[in-house]
Amino acid sequence: MEKHKPVLLKEVLHFLDVGPGRRFIDSTAGGGGHTEAILERKAKVLGIDQDPAALEIVRKRLKVRLRTRPRRDKTRPNVFRVKLVQKNFTHLQEVASKEGFQKINGVLFDLGFASFQLDSGHGLSFSREEPLDMRLDPTLGVTASDLVNSLPEHELTKLFFEFGQEKQARAIARNIVRTRSLKPVETTTELASLVEEVYKRHPGNRIHPATRVFMALRMAVNTELENLEQALPQAVEVLKKGGRLVVISFHSGEDRIVKEFMRKAEKEGLLKILTKKPVMPKEEEIEGNPRARSAKLRAAEKI
Ligand SMILES: C[S@@+](CC[C@H](N)C(=O)[O-])C[C@H]1O[C@@H](n2cnc3c(N)ncnc32)[C@H](O)[C@@H]1O
Repeated sequence: MEKHKPVLLKEVLHFLDVGPGRRFIDSTAGGGGHTEAILERKAKVLGIDQDPAALEIVRKRLKVRLRTRPRRDKTRPNVFRVKLVQKNFTHLQEVASKEGFQKINGVLFDLGFASFQLDSGHGLSFSREEPLDMRLDPTLGVTASDLVNSLPEHELTKLFFEFGQEKQARAIARNIVRTRSLKPVETTTELASLVEEVYKRHPGNRIHPATRVFMALRMAVNTELENLEQALPQAVEVLKKGGRLVVISFHSGEDRIVKEFMRKAEKEGLLKILTKKPVMPKEEEIEGNPRARSAKLRAAEKI
């Protein structure tokens, strides 16, 4: 499996102001790219991720055991400076206090999902036939299939339109409701074909027609916007004065939450914004990592 390429890596290290002995929380550690680079600069990291499989990949990348107090081992140089915890970042403050990561130098959020999560049985990809699940944390109660088979038509329309900015939201919802009255929609490819059927009547799309519907469902299943709203104030709480908050988002709804949170906190005298406009990847980065295309980074410092 190809290593997940960390997005805006140089910029993350710059805005977090990473240096030897400093302490950071990587709230979305899965993939391990940013965590690895922070550790290479001799800093300490508490890595959190809700997806046990994603943390396993971090563990392998860094060759550490999860939540163990490692013994000295020269072949595993990062082992003393990283702790990995499987948890939703909505519990950030609780995890930080349990692991002794308070008054720290920085907190990073690199939102969304990692590239390998498309291939790891979550049902996130429309091009692989899998159960329509989409939960990044397997203990969450509601799957994408539950939503697709139970939400009323107008709520499906609203979901696809608001989270996916899907122009054919209404027609797609109608097609789903018609189909599920005969048989439940249970797999990724079944859902993708229902979207394709609508787009046959409305051609001219550049990306795969199911992209936005899949994104909207993933965001709803994992309550992504609500989680972010809950976690940002906790991140500010665990920072020391001068500590940095860095957030990379991939969706306009996420970016709006981050922007408004930072502006309000600046007005209240809690944060100083370091990025007047969001920082976006340069063309060279996008060429090597197309996933980076929609990334926006915002950073602030605790006052
Ligand atoms: C874009 S990936 C992180 C990639 C990583 N920064 C790297 O460079 O390798 C996002 C990760 O955040 C995790 N994630 C998303 N929402 C989360 C939440 N609410 N709590 C904990 N982890 C979350 C996902 O499971 C995924 O592993």
